[in-house]
Amino acid sequence: MRLGKHLAHAGVASRRASEQLVKGGRVEVDGAVVTDPARDVGGEEDIRVDGKTLRRTEPGAERAVYLLHKPAGVVSTAKDTHGRRTVVEFVRAPGVRLYPVGRLDAETTGLILLTDDGDLAHRLTHPSFEVPKLYVAEVEHAPVREDALRRLREGVRLEDGMTAPARVKQVRSGVLELTIHEGRKRQVRRMCEEVGHAVKRLQRVAFGPLKLGDLAEGGVRRLSAAEIERLRAPAPGVPGGTGRDGQRA
Ligand code: URA
Repeated sequence: MRLGKHLAHAGVASRRASEQLVKGGRVEVDGAVVTDPARDVGGEEDIRVDGKTLRRTEPGAERAVYLLHKPAGVVSTAKDTHGRRTVVEFVRAPGVRLYPVGRLDAETTGLILLTDDGDLAHRLTHPSFEVPKLYVAEVEHAPVREDALRRLREGVRLEDGMTAPARVKQVRSGVLELTIHEGRKRQVRRMCEEVGHAVKRLQRVAFGPLKLGDLAEGGVRRLSAAEIERLRAPAPGVPGGTGRDGQRA
């Protein structure tokens, strides 16, 4: 397996970040610095990142996946340079190196996953797997008129291109449920703003087959093996994709 992939699989970081670690000369294999992320490794080598030996993970070993109800004001990176609280600080998992699956803006609340399984994180965040994410957005200038709803559904032109079609429902005046399967930066906020309805409050309430439910803000729960299996399950129509609960965006 490629070294970059192996590191991601071992939970060091996402696949891309792992490759950067290798390129940055921070990874040693059997005592020698390796800078090529494509270097083939079998798993029996002594691999160190920043001098720290990688925990060896047997194939099929149990992985940790936690679901957090992220409060506002918390950042979804593993470390914050401005000293703000991070999502990782909410989970007590001694000896396990967790990192967030994707991002939520600091002000956005709701469901975020943390895991030590780099491969699963990759599957869940890569756009090709089209994992649906359901958001509830409270927007300005209620109610949202039909033409704005239609634009959101059909795709909105943002500075980084058109958004894919989304499922959008106005559940109360000025409260939208949006299901998207892309993960662009501040996507829901930018989409709503583009159609004239800036977001006042945003919460993610579902991610693939998982729902936030009534988990309290700041609350954490570890996913069961069955839930992790459902996350890994191929989605209908997406080879090797992730299971969904019928909420196609
Ligand atoms: N869209 C946003 O605008 N913010 C998030 O945190 C997630 C999706």
